[in-house]
Amino acid sequence: MNEPVLRALGLCKAFEQGGVRIEVLRNLSLEIQAGERVAIFGRSGSGKSTLLHLLAGLDDPDAGEVWVGGARCSAAGVGERARLRNRHMGFVYQMHHLLPEFSALENVLMPLRLRGLTRRAAEPEAMAMLGAVGLGRRLAHRPAELSGGERQRVAVARALVGKPDIVLADEPTGNLDQDNAQQVFDLMQTLSDEFAVALVLVTHDQGVATAMHRTLRLDGGVLSP
Ligand SMILES: Nc1ncnc2c1ncn2[C@@H]1O[C@H](COP(=O)(O)OP(=O)(O)O)[C@@H](O)[C@H]1O
Ligand SMILES: [Mg+2]
Repeated sequence: MNEPVLRALGLCKAFEQGGVRIEVLRNLSLEIQAGERVAIFGRSGSGKSTLLHLLAGLDDPDAGEVWVGGARCSAAGVGERARLRNRHMGFVYQMHHLLPEFSALENVLMPLRLRGLTRRAAEPEAMAMLGAVGLGRRLAHRPAELSGGERQRVAVARALVGKPDIVLADEPTGNLDQDNAQQVFDLMQTLSDEFAVALVLVTHDQGVATAMHRTLRLDGGVLSP
């Protein structure tokens, strides 16, 4: 069996607010294999976004470990974590989180520029990826000049441009109408196949979930099939 692209072992996470302690994740474990597409289901407040933050190394678990690309993310410093994220992971959020002052092309260039590539070296990849999401003719548009569906497709291109092992997507179609949601979702599936990128997708949409390789439910702080 190959090494999983992402592994979480015994994650625990609690938040304390106003003297109340809420245990969000309780000894949660998860393994994602190369190219695997997994849906995560769960009611609002069940800890889906918290889980994705921990998987991304953006927040620390109270206990447990996250392994990415063969490295233990939870043991790495800030710089090394950023490097692991940039090398191995892509992200798509519910809100597009594109930089408003930058064009579609510049937004998609960003992950490659962070790797130290010159603009000249990175541009062919970024342009090809915008082409792959059907936005080859929107390179110079800023986010405000794009439709909601187009913005989310730019976000998908940005997540994939570095050919990560895995994309983490937190309700990526939650702000789109049904047609656009379907289009963005189809695109994520197709590109996940094309580039052999694994996908962890938080969704409320039963139809989307059943189209994935595996569906997990987050309830009571643990995942179950
Ligand atoms: N930074 C935080 N501080 C305090 N409580 C938090 C924080 N982040 C999340 N929570 C709480 O943790 C629980 C899970 O939140 P979240 O992961 O956002 O759920 P979901 O994404 O499934 O809707 C909620 O009860 C939320 O209020
Ligand atoms: Mg959430």
